[in-house]
Order: sequence, then C-alpha cells, then structure tokens
Amino acid sequence: MNITVVGTGYVGLVSGATFSEIGHNVMCIDNDDKKVAMLKRLEMPIYEEGLDEIVRKNVKAGRLHFSNCIKEGTEFAEVIFIAVGTPPMSTGEANMSYVERVGREVAENMTSYRLLVEKSTVIVNTNEQLKRTMTKYLKNDIPFDIASNPEFLREGTAIKDAFNPDRIVVGIESNRAARLLKEIYEPIVKKSGCPYLEMNIASAELTKHASNSFLAMKISFINAVSRICEITGADIGQVAHGVGLDKRIGPQFLSAGVGYGGSCFPKDVDAFIRMGDECGYSLNILKEVQRINASQREHLMRKLQQELWVLEDKTIAIFGLAFKAGTDDVRESPSLYFVPKLLEKKAKLRLWDPIAKGKFDQDHPGLHYFDNLMECADGADAVLILTDWPEIKQLDLDQLKKNMKCPIIMDGRNLFDPKTMAGKGFTYHCIGKKQAVAMK
Ligand SMILES: NC(=O)c1ccc[n+]([C@@H]2O[C@H](COP(=O)([O-])OP(=O)(O)OC[C@H]3O[C@@H](n4cnc5c(N)ncnc54)[C@H](O)[C@@H]3O)[C@@H](O)[C@H]2O)c1
Repeated sequence: MNITVVGTGYVGLVSGATFSEIGHNVMCIDNDDKKVAMLKRLEMPIYEEGLDEIVRKNVKAGRLHFSNCIKEGTEFAEVIFIAVGTPPMSTGEANMSYVERVGREVAENMTSYRLLVEKSTVIVNTNEQLKRTMTKYLKNDIPFDIASNPEFLREGTAIKDAFNPDRIVVGIESNRAARLLKEIYEPIVKKSGCPYLEMNIASAELTKHASNSFLAMKISFINAVSRICEITGADIGQVAHGVGLDKRIGPQFLSAGVGYGGSCFPKDVDAFIRMGDECGYSLNILKEVQRINASQREHLMRKLQQELWVLEDKTIAIFGLAFKAGTDDVRESPSLYFVPKLLEKKAKLRLWDPIAKGKFDQDHPGLHYFDNLMECADGADAVLILTDWPEIKQLDLDQLKKNMKCPIIMDGRNLFDPKTMAGKGFTYHCIGKKQAVAMK
C-alpha cells in the first residue's frame, strides 16, 4: 500500500522506515529542508540503533522516498500519518499547531478520499478539531476519515519496538479506516503476534496519555520510596527488586534515580494535567508525580553541594547528556538542569556523552566536551553520572580514581554497588542507598 508519513523525527522516520521494511511504499515528508536533504543523502538526522540500515535498504529498493512537499505527499497515498511534534508550550499545554497545519494542508491539497491518522501524541478529542479544520479547508465535498494510532516506541529500542510492539492501538469510526489500518499493520501483527486493539478514537487518544502518565507515576513512586530508604537505612535496589517480582507490579520502571526526562513523559504528563483541569477533573495525582520528579534533581544537586561545599572553581565531570542511554535526544534531559545550575555556581565542567554531544552542543557551545570518559574525568573534583550508558559501568575504576583530583562520584543512575565503590576508595553517593565513604 502507498503510505505518507508527515514528520521525519524519532517517530515519523522510524514509522516510515518500518512501513517500507514490511513491504509498503512510503513517502516521508518534512518541512525542514535540511532534514530532507540529509535523508536524501542517506544521512540520519537522529540516532537510533539499526535505523540507517533499514532506511538505506528501502531507499535502494525504491520503497522509501523523502520530500519537503506536502502536496506530493497528499497525492502519493490514501493513508497519511501525522507524526509531527506536539511540544509543550509555556503554559504546559501541548502545542497542537503543527498537527493543525498538517490537517489544513492535506485538506487544501486532496482531491479524493484520504485517511488522516494521528500518530503524534495528541490530547483526547483532537480528532474532532481535526475534522472541523479539514472540513473548513477542503475545496470540495471530498470524503475523509480521521483515525488515531498512538505510538508507543521507546527511543533507543525504537526499531525493535516497531517490529515487536506490546500492542497496536487504533481508534477508528468507519469500516474503511479500519480496513486500511488493518492492512497496513497485518505483517507486523502476523509476525509478532501482538494484540491489535480497535477502539473509538477518543479512547485511542487517551490510551497514550494514560500509558505515559502511568509510567511516569511508577518512576516517581519508586523515587519517593528511595527518599524514605535514605532516611531509614533501607536499600532501594533491594526494595525495588522485592516489589517488582510481584507480577501485578512488574520490575520495569522501578529504577530510582535522578528522574525521568525526554521528549514524552514531561510534556505528556503536563498536557494530561491541563486537559484534566480543562474538563473539570483535577489530576492531582500527576501534579505530585511532577513534584517528585523535579525534587530528585534538586536532591542530587544538594548532595553534590554538601559534598564539595563550594562549587566555584571545582571541576565537575558530567557523564551522560542524553535523557537515557541509546539515544542522542537531550530534550528535558537531567543534564539540562545540572549544566546551567553548575555554570551559575561557577564550576568548571567537563562533559562526556557517546552520541548526544552534538545535540547538546547546539544550545551549549563553548563547553568542554570529551570523547573519552577517562579523559573527561581528568583532574575532576567529582564525577556526576546522569545517563545510564553501559560504557560507564565498564570503566576501569582504579584508573578512574587515579585520574580524578578527589575520588567523589555522584551517581544519579545507581550504576555501581556502594560497597564496591568504597572498597575502591571512592566517596560514592547514589539514590536511595546509604552513602559509601572511601575505605582508606
Ligand atoms: N520521541 C518519542 O520517543 C515518541 C514516542 C511516542 C510518541 N511520540 C510523539 O510523536 C510525535 C513526534 O515526536 P518526535 O519525537 O518524532 O518529534 P520530532 O520533533 O523528533 O519530529 C517532528 C518532525 O516533524 C516535522 N514537522 C513539523 N511540522 C511539520 C509540518 N507541518 N510538515 C512536515 N513536517 C513537519 C519537524 O520538522 C520534525 O522533523 C510527538 O507528538 C511525540 O509526543 C514521540
């Protein structure tokens, strides 16, 4: 089937590449000319493991095309996925102007039936607004459908997730839309055996916000428990293990740390709260989730300050700029909290990240970036771990200690065992466990 995907970011590009890999003919549209030019040169504008191979293979096979022209995309396919951003506005609401614009431009360019599918994360009942917009901008009385197909991929494992989703959710209200979406996803459902859920459009839209908010809540819950652990002498690793083995709870998203970040959880929780307020049901539970998340960063900052007393002129090596391992995405990353705070306190920063350096540097030029972890830690008064990159766990700790001025580790990801670190001569602070003091 011919498919158009509008927006070639983390979701659009992965979805377009996946659709082409399962045999569809795909046109990916983006209004960022630079991105489209890069993609036409087979250069990836984002990092996602395995993505470039799939893109290259399918472009060469003639199943995957890129364009900056929405008219071309509208003519190309009966089904058009909207995968543009829905970033947060200063009020906390999701900015729906990119989605609206796609609806408007598709309506202006379509000459026969089109199915417009919301893949972007949207607030519940966005489909109603889209319908109104489409109707306003259509030149003739041309039939169309709106559907919702929220995306659940995780950056870092997006390709794997796309071929092996936990479930596929589609919100539909016509047989034609149902048939088209089923045909698109049939190869994935057949191969992976994943559940394929059809529901009404509002339910599909809401499923996405409810899922992300629940995951954020799980993280904040375990972070709250980690604070109790610190006060009482319990160990959050042991507690989380004990809790997570309960099948009703499950072990995922029970890692205490410096809090969630990324382009989804913070903005989706925020948008869900606003939506609740607007429709007259206050989601106070999520307001607390946000408060706990913010307090985790402040808590680690306080520990660092207490450990070093004065931060001015202290050299801090920051390990990890991405919001999590496996991605170059720095949106809402903890590093965006710590770097400005430490600069404000006149600390000297040395930064390391295996792939997010480029993206971070765009907004933070003139800082010292290092390709090598050991080099980054050279002469540091403390190392601050913000991302769970596997390279950090593989470090030669004896060498690390030799390289640092003071062997102090502030670990926002609980990567090491405190006793081992103390045995190696480090003062080691992490989250939800007793601080380990260097054994001399
Ligand atoms: N990133 C994730 O992990 C993830 C996961 C699930 C859902 N989502 C949701 O998917 C949506 C997209 O997220 P993303 O991370 O891929 O965003 P992104 O910012 O990486 O990509 C969005 C792309 O859309 C393009 N764009 C914007 N307006 C356009 C227009 N009018 N015409 C053509 N292109 C346009 C931008 O240039 C950009 O390349 C968001 O709603 C997000 O919440 C994201």
